[in-house]
Amino acid sequence: PNYISVSKLANLLNCRIETLIKDLTKLGFANISHNYILSREYVELILQEYNYVLPASQAAITSKNIYDGLKAPANPKFLQRRPPVVTIMGHVDHGKTTIIDYLRKSSVVSGEHGGITQHIGAFQIVTPVSKKSITFLDTPGHAAFLKMRERGANITDIIVLVVSIEDSVMPQTLEAIKHIKNSGNELIVAITKIDTIKRPKDREKAIERVTNDLISQDIPVEKIGGDVQVIPISAKTGENMDLFEESIILLSDIMDVRAENSLKTLVEGWVLESQVRKTVGNVATVLVKRGTLQKGKILLCGNTYCRVKLMVDDLGKDVIKAEPAQVVEVRGWKDLVRAGDEVIQTVSESVAKKYINRRIALQAVEKDAVTVENLNEQRREEAE
Ligand code: GTP
Ligand code: MG
Repeated sequence: PNYISVSKLANLLNCRIETLIKDLTKLGFANISHNYILSREYVELILQEYNYVLPASQAAITSKNIYDGLKAPANPKFLQRRPPVVTIMGHVDHGKTTIIDYLRKSSVVSGEHGGITQHIGAFQIVTPVSKKSITFLDTPGHAAFLKMRERGANITDIIVLVVSIEDSVMPQTLEAIKHIKNSGNELIVAITKIDTIKRPKDREKAIERVTNDLISQDIPVEKIGGDVQVIPISAKTGENMDLFEESIILLSDIMDVRAENSLKTLVEGWVLESQVRKTVGNVATVLVKRGTLQKGKILLCGNTYCRVKLMVDDLGKDVIKAEPAQVVEVRGWKDLVRAGDEVIQTVSESVAKKYINRRIALQAVEKDAVTVENLNEQRREEAE
């Protein structure tokens, strides 16, 4: 329907009809009653003028929340420690990729499978001293991450902010700091490229400069009694890299990150990347958030599902199970899933199909409905 009554719109916007009528009158509408019918264009105008937003919690089942009904409530009995999930942010050229390359290489070399790493957007390392795992996501700027964030999914635990010892805080460092503050993630700072300054005294001075710049940005670093660790590193020479890895473990120990991972727990996760691979078919990189993923389990995602045929890690190696914070490429999807979508396990293929059909039916109805979301989407499309 491209028309909506004033009372229905007020209902939708969760505001009083009288308030809406008053606003409409100010916009030039005359003699408006409760059942006055507004066209889509006018609704658009009203929304724009008054910045109305849909209330977040709506009891109704929609295509967006229909799968939530499949999620079991948390069972604290099965909560176990899991590896932290970490992303790296920072100004351009400050050394993000070099850190990732270093960590990847050292973990690949120390593992039995020396060789080519497949790009699946994430990888797990085992720290050199404490022998604990850390999951690194190497594409945090990616559209999928924005989508997950929009849907309230905060999939990372810790953000590493890299700041070059040569340049200190730069524009994109500030942007990253803003993001970190908004996200509520825990923070570790890595001052990179320390090998470029040889004299200990000069190096110390430069580290202090960066630290002070961070303090000016209200980062509560340890130096001033805060809890943000600042680790000077060189990803080129490897200096302090073990300290850096252990500092992440230390923080995650304090955070006590946990997830349910009994085999009975229904799996939940997020798609980080997806693609069609020659001879393999539809594949999706999945970050497991809850439960333990195994071959044969049924996963629902978007309007499609999969009976897990095969799982491989970032080294292309077969994986028999994937626990929380593990990232695996999942094969066996009927159709291509979309990055940023949630993955939920169902007890059977028929349950998955039933939910997909209900979702498709809901989508068909929602497509034409006058909703704030639809109008916003339309506005976005027109703006592009
Ligand atoms: P973007 O992806 O473009 O934002 O950059 P980045 O943050 O990934 O930086 P990258 O790792 O590509 O490093 C940029 C340059 O700095 C490269 O030439 C690296 O070789 C160099 N570099 C990175 N880390 C170090 C380091 O620890 N020491 C030295 N000497 N050079 C480094
Ligand atoms: Mg890079």
